[in-house]
Amino acid sequence: MSKILAAVAWPYANGPRHIGHVSGFGVPSDVFSRYQRMAGNDVLMVSGSDEHGTAIQVQSDKEGLTPQQTADKYHRIIVEDLQNLGLSYNLYTRTTTGNHASVVQELFRALHANGYVVAKTQLGAISPSTGRTLADRYIEGTCPICGFDGARGDQCDNCGNQLDPIDLIDPHDRNTGETPKFVETEHFFLDLPSLAGSLKNWLATRQDWRPNVINFSMALIKDLKPRPITRDLDWGIPIPLDDWRDNPMKSIYVWFDAVIGYLSASIEWAKRQGDPEAWRSWWQNPDARSYYFMGKDNITFHSVIWPGILLGANGQGDLGGVPSAFGRLDLPTEIVSSEYLTMSGSKVSTSRSNVILVRDFLRDFGPDALRYFISVAGPENQDTDFTWDEFVRRTNTELANEWGNLVNRSISMAFKNGGVIPTADTLQDIDQAVLATAAAGFTTVGNLLDRAHFKQAITEAMRVVSAANKYLSDTEPWKLKDDPRRRDTILHTSLQLVSDANTMLTPFLPHASERIYQALHNGQAGWAAMPDMVEVSEEGHDDYLVLTGDYGDQLARWQSQPLVAGTPLAKPAPLFAKLDETLGQTGPDWAPITSD
Ligand code: MF3
Ligand code: ZN
Repeated sequence: MSKILAAVAWPYANGPRHIGHVSGFGVPSDVFSRYQRMAGNDVLMVSGSDEHGTAIQVQSDKEGLTPQQTADKYHRIIVEDLQNLGLSYNLYTRTTTGNHASVVQELFRALHANGYVVAKTQLGAISPSTGRTLADRYIEGTCPICGFDGARGDQCDNCGNQLDPIDLIDPHDRNTGETPKFVETEHFFLDLPSLAGSLKNWLATRQDWRPNVINFSMALIKDLKPRPITRDLDWGIPIPLDDWRDNPMKSIYVWFDAVIGYLSASIEWAKRQGDPEAWRSWWQNPDARSYYFMGKDNITFHSVIWPGILLGANGQGDLGGVPSAFGRLDLPTEIVSSEYLTMSGSKVSTSRSNVILVRDFLRDFGPDALRYFISVAGPENQDTDFTWDEFVRRTNTELANEWGNLVNRSISMAFKNGGVIPTADTLQDIDQAVLATAAAGFTTVGNLLDRAHFKQAITEAMRVVSAANKYLSDTEPWKLKDDPRRRDTILHTSLQLVSDANTMLTPFLPHASERIYQALHNGQAGWAAMPDMVEVSEEGHDDYLVLTGDYGDQLARWQSQPLVAGTPLAKPAPLFAKLDETLGQTGPDWAPITSD
């Protein structure tokens, strides 16, 4: 049994999430974590709402709220959506807690003491009309490296290079079009050049990552410059150094604070479950593995900045040093990044009109249809266009016809015959062959899931479903009225295949799998555990919502569950509703397909 940290990217609490967001960090991390738990590993899955930074500030200005009110509002909405999607976090918390601030400040302090964080003067952009600092990502201009004219002040999405606003050709405020004024301001920088050597050595040991991630990361570390990790912003964690601590206009950069959330959330989880040191088994253990899940615009921060922070705080860069108060911390085992889910060629984004919100989607189609679609047709290896047509087709032909029908006809036939799981007589070759296909599926699908190859994994699991459907049409048990023993053997075998396929599909379709498990086990609940939403308290702070759960007791195991003959069955209800074909042409009324 290994310790596995599933570190899931923290969504900004500046609006409700759309299906592109959860296709990047949400569904993949949950499928992975559910599989690892079923395989007997001890998973710690952590994340939370990313509440600081300009994204939240800008939204609060729009809504006439304070940043804290904005973060409160969207944290709640995001928590509800992630719960309804069935994402099995051990802890989904937030970055405005006192625990998080103190962990962030300790790592900042350790980096500073070790010499990896240094003060420098920089040219900062301010708005000439308001005098306020302009956030890097809200300044746009032409990339000095590749010439792309939509580059942002923090990075160019076309060539992937990190930028500073001052580098942009013809910089302008994305919201107002104003040309910013650049003034001198003092900031703290993470001295990546003195960490480059150890980063390089570490990355050289990570060659089995997805090609998009390792190639991108290797290119990044060829030319590392110091990166500012403080901002002229009054919404963020205070800089923990004398003369800075009380300056309300300076705070720690949101990305520096957010990535440390993986550690602070692990520590918070340990405290809340009554064993404050328990987090160490996932962070200071050569046998533990850590997997980080995100969309591709987050790669830099996880494959370079976060490992750089860890190396520096551990005292493992060129300047040496001593470990932070937490002791030496482990670097990521793997960065698992998705590409973008687009819609009709444009990035599905909250700032454009074509937005498919998780909330609307779940209300109309339920969590498993979305989880299925993202797993089988999502942007795992390349940008992928979401279309309603494809969603309808996959839901109707694959989920409803292939899987739903297999479950339904297998259970109803047995139900009609004797109302119980029938007894199997001697198995014939055809029975044994199909059961062997299912047995092999556990190995194939399991290995793919362990390597985070979700698309291939679900495709292999669906192959078992097809084999079971073919088995029923080949053996035609409905024609065997005169041979009840043979008929019962086939019905028993087909129910066993349903059970096996259901086990393999559990990480992807946990809600449906629970119903199927109960149908085959006389209503026994507790197969696939779901997250709970709980209100928690912290001294000095308002109570807040978290997602948590006890997944250790769930029954789901990554192995065949032999069915017990004689177990009562009930008349099955349809598992997946078929969608109206016209939805594929029109879209739902809350996200209609338009012709332009
Ligand atoms: N909030 C960021 C985004 O939505 C992701 C932060 S991931 C973290 O792009 F690890 F830094 F927390
Ligand atoms: Zn560029």
